[in-house]
Amino acid sequence: MVNKLTILKLGGSAITKKSKPLTFNSNSVHKISKVIKKFNEPLIIVHGAGSFGHYYAKRYRISDKPTTSTKHVVKIRDSMQLLNQKIVKIFHENQVNTFSFSPTSMYINKKIPNDWKKILQKSISFDLIPITFGDVLLGNNGFYIHSGDLIVHDLCKLLNPKRVIFASNIDGIYQNPDDVSSLIPIINNNKNNLKFSKLNYDVTGGIKTKINQSLKIANLGIDVQITNGLNSKTLLKALRGEHVGTIFVGDKM
Ligand SMILES: Nc1ncnc2c1ncn2[C@@H]1O[C@H](COP(=O)(O)OP(=O)(O)O)[C@@H](O)[C@H]1O
Ligand SMILES: [Mg+2]
Repeated sequence: MVNKLTILKLGGSAITKKSKPLTFNSNSVHKISKVIKKFNEPLIIVHGAGSFGHYYAKRYRISDKPTTSTKHVVKIRDSMQLLNQKIVKIFHENQVNTFSFSPTSMYINKKIPNDWKKILQKSISFDLIPITFGDVLLGNNGFYIHSGDLIVHDLCKLLNPKRVIFASNIDGIYQNPDDVSSLIPIINNNKNNLKFSKLNYDVTGGIKTKINQSLKIANLGIDVQITNGLNSKTLLKALRGEHVGTIFVGDKM
C-alpha cells in the first residue's frame, strides 16, 4: 500500500492569490478537488500558506528562527487554520474525503515521530486523504515556521511514497522566469545558474527552498515533479506519472 502513495504539495500560489493579502482562490481549489477526485489513488496532501500565513509572518517578521512573540504567532496560526478549513470545505463539497491533521500535533522536537506512520497509513486504508499544512510549530526555544515544502520532505522520510508532486503557479522551473521558453525539463543538481524573480509574500525561501527540497527527496529515490496546480490537465497527468513540468533526478537513479 505504502509504495503506491503519492504526496501532493499544493503551493500557496495555487490555492490563494499570493500577491493579495488574505485572498483565497476558491475557483482554483474547486478545480484541484475535481482533479483529485479523478486521480483515485492513495494520496496525502500538504498545503502552503500563500497570502494567509506568509502575510502575517512577513508583517511580524517571523520566520524559521524561533520567536516568543505569542501575540503574533497566534495570528499566523489562526490564518492557517482558516485557510485549511476553507480548502477542506471545498474538497468535501466535491466528495474528496480529506482528513485534516494539524502539524502542531504531528511534530515533536522538529520531527514527526514514527507512530505517525501507522496513523497516516490507517487513515489512507479507510480511503481518507490526510491533509496537513505549513504552520508555526513550538520548538525548544520558541515558535518557528515550518513550511509545507519541508513537511513534504519529512513525510517522504517517514512514508517512502512513490511520487511527490509540487503544484505551484508556474509550469515548472525556468532558467529565467521572464522567459517562458526556458522551462527546464530535468534537474539533477543544484548548479544550474538559475535566475530567480523576487517575491513579496514569502518567508520560507520560495522557489529556492522548493528546488532544494525536491533534490533531497529525489535523492531518497522518490519521483519528484514541479508542475502547475492552476492547470487541471497537466496536474492530473503529473499525478499519473507523466512528465509535464520539471522532474528532479537524484543520485540514486
Ligand atoms: N527560476 C524560476 N522558475 C520558476 N519560478 C520562479 C523562478 N524564480 C522565481 N520563481 C517564482 O517562484 C514562484 C513559486 O514559488 P512559491 O511562491 O514558493 O510557490 P508556492 O506558493 O507554490 O510554494 C513562482 O510564482 C515564480 O514567480
Ligand atoms: Mg513556497
